Amino acid sequence: MARVTELTVNGAPVAVDVDAATPLLSVLREDLGLTGSKIGCGEGECGACTVLAGDRAVRACITPVGTVADRPIVTIEGLAQDGRLHPLQQAFLDTEAFQCGYCTPGMIMAGLGLLTACPDPTEAEIVAGMQGNICRCGTYRRIIRAIQQAAEERVAARAGEAVP
Ligand code: FES
Repeated sequence: MARVTELTVNGAPVAVDVDAATPLLSVLREDLGLTGSKIGCGEGECGACTVLAGDRAVRACITPVGTVADRPIVTIEGLAQDGRLHPLQQAFLDTEAFQCGYCTPGMIMAGLGLLTACPDPTEAEIVAGMQGNICRCGTYRRIIRAIQQAAEERVAARAGEAVP
């Protein structure tokens, strides 16, 4: 059985020793102690476990670690820099885009994947892009608003305007 012995997670190389078929979510949570990525359905249907592999959002619960071992992995723990929340994290706070918060890490990582692929999405593109992430509390309107806020800030920053 092929083994995976090193990953790049949140910008740093980390040593692991796992079967290549092990779900990425298990490696992150159980081997690396990164429990921000949540276990929901465990079947690729709810999005609670979403992380970035390269620039792409993936369902960590159904992603064999061996298939992404050559790509940088980013989890919710890797977003804040120098004590400052990532703008999309801040936007979720500003718009109160959660109630229980269980889906929030996956929502934010999926939102980041969406904004990477589509930096200035329409509302319809956000709805389509976030289709696979489920919020049992039903805060979808505010989640859309949070992603719009982050996109607006990013577009403004690129245009050289002041970002609040
Ligand atoms: Fe991975 Fe639901 S826990 S998609």
